[in-house]
Amino acid sequence: MSEQWPTAITDIEPNSVRVRGYDIADLMGRVSFGQAVYLIIRGELPDGATGRLMEAIIVSSIDHGATPPSAMAARTLASTGATLSASVGAGLMSINAHHGGAIMNCAVQLGQISDRASTEHCSLEDAAAAQLADWKAQGIRMSGFGHRVHTADPRTSRLFELAREAGAFGDHCRTAMAVEDAFKTAGKPLPINVDGVMGAVLADLGFEPEVMNGLFMIARTPGLIAHVREEQSRMKPMRKVVPDAHRYDGPSPRTLP
Ligand SMILES: CC(C)(COP(=O)(O)OP(=O)(O)OC[C@H]1O[C@@H](n2cnc3c(N)ncnc32)[C@H](O)[C@@H]1OP(=O)(O)O)[C@@H](O)C(=O)NCCC(=O)NCCS
Repeated sequence: MSEQWPTAITDIEPNSVRVRGYDIADLMGRVSFGQAVYLIIRGELPDGATGRLMEAIIVSSIDHGATPPSAMAARTLASTGATLSASVGAGLMSINAHHGGAIMNCAVQLGQISDRASTEHCSLEDAAAAQLADWKAQGIRMSGFGHRVHTADPRTSRLFELAREAGAFGDHCRTAMAVEDAFKTAGKPLPINVDGVMGAVLADLGFEPEVMNGLFMIARTPGLIAHVREEQSRMKPMRKVVPDAHRYDGPSPRTLP
């Protein structure tokens, strides 16, 4: 028998599937998708409030309309007759530093600002102002801030609220608020965007930066599948996919029961 390599994720035996030690049939119907995502990535089941926060993070980024680069890439590929997997894959491949992939960089930058406040014994606000000025001089942007469409993104305040409820509003979240204030004070208000909140909250939950952009990929995949199926079923093959030349014709605004 060849040498065996280790994996600690899922144990498969005949008639048995154990994810991180838990019988998958016990997890089914008893833990939410958010809890299961936390479990598979972190190795432990989170408490209920953290599970709700994970769930909200995933729901928050499920879709953002037809114009984001990932939806455009997925639809463009679908319009050539490509398969569902190839089209969704193209969408996922356009999740990078400037779209949906600012989460990791934002978390790292927030950590650098918070470290600067500790090293220089100054407030988070002062550290944020000094660090943003240094980065600006070097042509480096603050990941997770600014948005092409929103000035007050409806998703961000709700995620911070849920982070507070879950006891996950820690140093990175406080630093994110300080960064927002520093941009305002400098006369260039730049709102925190959904990537930024995800970076702050996931860092305060203890996720390693390298895995954070994956949470956006998990969240956006159902949205991309919907865009690809709509492209395949409603649109002419090989059409010109012009980002802004679309109109929404789905359900009118409605409320949850
Ligand atoms: C999202 C983003 C591309 C939107 O850009 P935009 O609204 O089209 O703004 P522009 O790129 O035209 O920049 C306008 C000005 O704001 C500044 N700016 C925008 N976002 C900035 C940021 N995150 N950090 C520092 N400065 C920023 C630009 O330097 C520019 O300054 P100038 O007028 O002095 O040249 C941009 O804000 C950004 O790069 N953010 C960081 C990456 C990110 O968070 N991506 C996830 C988006 S959900």
